[in-house]
Amino acid sequence: EASERESMLAVNDFAMRWFERNIQQTQEGRDIGLAYFRQRGIDERMIERFHLGYSLDRRDALRTEALRAGYTDEFLEKTGLIIRHEGGGISDRFRARVIYPIFTLSGKVVGFGGRTLRSDKTMAKYVNSPESVIYHKSTELYGLYQAKPSIVRKDKCILVEGYMDVISMHQAGIENVVASSGTSLTEGQIRLIHRFTENVTVIYDSDPAGIKASLRGIDLLLAEGLMVKVLLLPDGDDPDSFAQSHPSSEVERYIEENEGDFVKFKTDILMKDTDRDPIARSRAMTEIVRTIAVIPEMMLRTTYIAECSRRFGISEELLTLQVRREMAARA
Ligand code: GTP
Ligand code: MN
Ligand code: MN
Ligand code: MN
Ligand code: MN
Repeated sequence: EASERESMLAVNDFAMRWFERNIQQTQEGRDIGLAYFRQRGIDERMIERFHLGYSLDRRDALRTEALRAGYTDEFLEKTGLIIRHEGGGISDRFRARVIYPIFTLSGKVVGFGGRTLRSDKTMAKYVNSPESVIYHKSTELYGLYQAKPSIVRKDKCILVEGYMDVISMHQAGIENVVASSGTSLTEGQIRLIHRFTENVTVIYDSDPAGIKASLRGIDLLLAEGLMVKVLLLPDGDDPDSFAQSHPSSEVERYIEENEGDFVKFKTDILMKDTDRDPIARSRAMTEIVRTIAVIPEMMLRTTYIAECSRRFGISEELLTLQVRREMAARA
């Protein structure tokens, strides 16, 4: 229903402006929220550009303001801005967190991410708006609204994991960056990228979870017909920490010099420290052949087979046969 969507978007827009006002104009927001972004090296321009904010450390400060402004509990609840508890109590979902609004392609705020500022491990690091009539996580990408012009201009999209990765890269002058924000990458998100470019570079966190997610993401991206590159950052880095610890000019150059195709990435990952181990070697080859088999375009498969052949010293004929077998097994 059109009016339900409109009302939900309106209350989200109100909330975003309230979070933004908090971070600029309240003592608590400045001392805690703004200070947090400063300490992480995020400047004023990025706070404005991404409409970053802060939610006060109170039970229902947003709700109180929203009701006063004429919004209703019904829509605050539908957007997930408030939570109704079992005993009947109502509280704000986002409390004492810095806020990252999530925009659609056309610039409407459909949800929020909120990061805790405490190092307390018992608390979820991020809280996100729930799925709703207006927010479908599997078809949104964080940062796409801001990244779109640059993606089109460069004919390339960089895919990262998190909110801060998008923002720090953007601040370093690399604006064609979007994040899947924790949810594992979906076909819908990939189709969204495909509308603007065929070229994707995956730069996930350089930790076991990030590497695992890259391996999965690569296959999904290739299966959707995209041209995929991957960059493995130095151990323990994510794009945010990397961008914050290097001069801007170096970040772009580092990416250009070190991004490689998935054959190189998989070889590096699967054969790390096992250069001469024949078992690791054959497992790596099997994995690479499996990935080549997901590529819909024959010419592209042939190119990768040739590369694989050079890299492993195995004939193209044999590899082609193996790829065909994998494809048959998948069909
Ligand atoms: P910082 O610690 O602020 O640098 O964030 P990060 O983006 O580096 O966090 P991390 O690499 O742990 O996670 C990547 C992304 O996954 C985040 O940006 C979030 O979108 C999401 N995520 C991480 N932790 C949680 C969580 O506890 N709950 C939910 N729902 N999402 C999370
Ligand atoms: Mn295409
Ligand atoms: Mn991580
Ligand atoms: Mn990270
Ligand atoms: Mn990080």
